[in-house]
Formats: sequence, C-alpha cells, structure tokens
Amino acid sequence: MIIMLDTADVQEIKKFTKMYPIDGVTTNPSLVAKQKRNFIELIKEIRETIGDRKMLHVQALGKTAEEIVEEAQYLNTKIGGTLYIKIPVVEEGIKAIMILKEKGIKTTATAVFTPLQALMAAKAGAEYIAPYVNRLDNISADGIKVVSEIVQIFNVHGVDAKVLAASFKNVEQIHKACLAGAHSITAGPDIMNQLLYHPLTNWSVEQFVKAWEDLYGKGKRTDNI
Ligand code: G3P
Repeated sequence: MIIMLDTADVQEIKKFTKMYPIDGVTTNPSLVAKQKRNFIELIKEIRETIGDRKMLHVQALGKTAEEIVEEAQYLNTKIGGTLYIKIPVVEEGIKAIMILKEKGIKTTATAVFTPLQALMAAKAGAEYIAPYVNRLDNISADGIKVVSEIVQIFNVHGVDAKVLAASFKNVEQIHKACLAGAHSITAGPDIMNQLLYHPLTNWSVEQFVKAWEDLYGKGKRTDNI
C-alpha cells in the first residue's frame, strides 16, 4: 500500500516525511497556487526535501496534447527524480498520456470520476489513476464505489495501472478506499494526522505512564531507572 501526502507546502512535507512512512508527494494546481511562490523553485524545493527516490506527482496545465507533452518533458528535465506528470482525463490528456508513454515519461491520470475514464487512461499508459472520492461524495455519488469498480475492472482484465485514491475529507473514506483495494492513497496533512488518532490509544498511554511513574518516579524510563 502506497501512502502519499497531498500538499505543496514544503514545511508540512518536511514535518510529515520525518514523522510518517510516506512514499511520495502529490500536488495539484490549487495546492501549488496556495503557496504563492515561483512554481519551479517550489517544485525543486519539494524534490530536494523528499529526495530523488520518493515519488513526486506534478500536474501539467496545457490544453492540447502537444502542450502537455512539452510541459512534461520540461518538468522531467528540470525536476528529475521519480516524477509523475499528472494529466486530467480529458481527450487531449489521454492523447498526451499515450505520447508520453512512448517517450518513457511516467504519468498519473487525474480528475477521474468514472471507471471508464480510469480504464481509458490505463490503456493509454498512465501508471497511476486518481479517482476523486470526496468530490464524488459531495454530489451525492459514491466515491468508494467508483474506486472499488476501477479496482475490479483492473483485476478482471489484468490492467497494470495502480489506483491512487485521492480527494479525502475524512479517515473513514481512506479506510474504505484501502478495503476497496486501492493500491495507493494520497491525503492532505490534516487527514494524515487523523489516521493515527484514537482516544483509547491516548488514554492507554496515560495509564501506562501513570502506573510506571507511580512506582519509579516522574520522567523515569526503561533506560534510566
Ligand atoms: O490530488 C487530488 C486532490 O488534491 C483533490 O483533492 O481535496 O481538492 O478534492 P480535493
């Protein structure tokens, strides 16, 4: 199971990559715009922060396949490392994914809302396919059902692409995406923090510390009693 952090905030990336077993970072134009910084400088800093081995997903903005391909080649040269160019599953995007596959540049199909968009993008050659769970839930559709059907279609037909479930607003959506068989998820820092939270865990730790310190004294640990 691959777990990625969905943010373009370098400070958050620094903090979370030290704290949690994160496999990479996903960004999108809205997340980048929030940083109000020079784009290339920002993405380069993210790359330096996570190193070359962790995945970095960066979205292209071109409207035609040719523009997207040019951007992808530019980003691949400028940023390097394990880079995935995120491309929305519009017609020109699918065309660009096919061209980039031929050129050996890795892509992530994004803004996926239906299983057939996912299938077309996978057939075009995208390595990752990103269905947006919460955006579907917000229009009274069923984001997890879409994830589950994409996984099912990929399994039945032996499709290689990985499902990167994205757009989460709560822990339960992530829980269900994992159960549905998504190969990977990406979550923002706020939700990532919530993944570990349970009041009984905190309560249990307090009980252990109390019992220990009542006997051995405040601040005592196993290595200094
Ligand atoms: O990576 C895609 C994701 O960032 C979209 O999430 O929360 O804007 O729906 P959201």
